[in-house]
Amino acid sequence: MMQNKAAWIRTAKGDLEIDEAPYNEPGPGEILIKNEAIAIQPLDASTRKLAYMPIPYPFILGSNVAGTIAAVGADVIDLKPGDRVVSSTPTYVAKEAKWGAWQKYVLSKAESTAKIGDANCDLAVALSFPLSTAVGALHVYGGMEKPGEGNSNAHENEKVLIWGAGGAVGGYAVQYAKSVGYTVIATVSPRGFAHLKEVGASHVLDYKSSEIESQLRKLGPFHYLMTASGDPTSQQVLGRLLQPNGGRFLSTRAGEVGLPSNVERVYNTFEFATQKPEFSEYAHWWYTTYLPRAIGGTVEPTPIEKRSGGLKAIQAAAEDVLNGKAKNKIVIDPQE
Ligand SMILES: NC(=O)c1ccc[n+]([C@@H]2O[C@H](COP(=O)([O-])OP(=O)(O)OC[C@H]3O[C@@H](n4cnc5c(N)ncnc54)[C@H](OP(=O)(O)O)[C@@H]3O)[C@@H](O)[C@H]2O)c1
Repeated sequence: MMQNKAAWIRTAKGDLEIDEAPYNEPGPGEILIKNEAIAIQPLDASTRKLAYMPIPYPFILGSNVAGTIAAVGADVIDLKPGDRVVSSTPTYVAKEAKWGAWQKYVLSKAESTAKIGDANCDLAVALSFPLSTAVGALHVYGGMEKPGEGNSNAHENEKVLIWGAGGAVGGYAVQYAKSVGYTVIATVSPRGFAHLKEVGASHVLDYKSSEIESQLRKLGPFHYLMTASGDPTSQQVLGRLLQPNGGRFLSTRAGEVGLPSNVERVYNTFEFATQKPEFSEYAHWWYTTYLPRAIGGTVEPTPIEKRSGGLKAIQAAAEDVLNGKAKNKIVIDPQE
């Protein structure tokens, strides 16, 4: 019998405990992945420390892995043992520990898995969750086209505002909107100016400037507005930028912020769009076309920080993500 180990969370807000976990055989349509890379996401970190997402305990957190397929279940035709893959697991949708990414051998669904060939597992896993959040927000919930759909010059004179683009979600939102053909304006702290210009933003502005609102007003109006940081201040600024006519903006975070009545905030767990049956056409495109190409080089990856220590390193890494101390996506190899 193969051994498996996991970083368990046994009670709400409890510390992680490294302990044995079941080695699960994949059922129909499922695969078992030898997990070689996880990236710590703000969602995982806030669920660990603040019980942000309701889950049953004991539980194994995390919903994105990259590694090598160890076994496949019945009805899996396009994947086989030995394939290198990146996969989104339904951890927070199905709420069962067997899908949790913070373990050495993880079950996932073949339909939410992309082959990565010779690509680096660390880069693949660091890219997939925030990129899928950005594309899920702009395309699935925002209605923005796919790159290459229609006339690529049609949107040249239309502007998209991405607020708080210093993180992975925001940086990828900039790249996606640019790839569809929009003129992109981003806000970020000055350390991010050069990177965002390189990946396609036409204007980059410091979101902490006292002039930010008037600067943005001069650059608008905006066809799409998104706050990638999702904080209350950003939501309020976007709400005011939409005046006097009103409109809607996308936000990675919810919360009570007191928006004008003519403003709609579009919030969802955008990353989970690939797990929802109503978006199955999108999910197919995502896993078979867009994500493999992005990993292959069509999207510029945000920098990563590789941490040693395996499963034992997750707790401190998650604290750093939650406390804003992680300037890059932290990636850990659970096999260590
Ligand atoms: N709804 C969803 O489906 C979903 C999915 C994934 C993530 N999220 C949320 O989206 C947010 C971004 O996630 P991420 O993975 O991109 O995080 P990340 O890579 O850790 O982003 C961190 C960066 O965001 C910027 N930032 C932080 N606070 C800010 C603020 N108040 N205003 C403007 N920029 C700020 C900072 O950049 P500077 O250096 O420019 O300050 C920081 O370096 C998180 O809140 C996360 O919980 C939501």
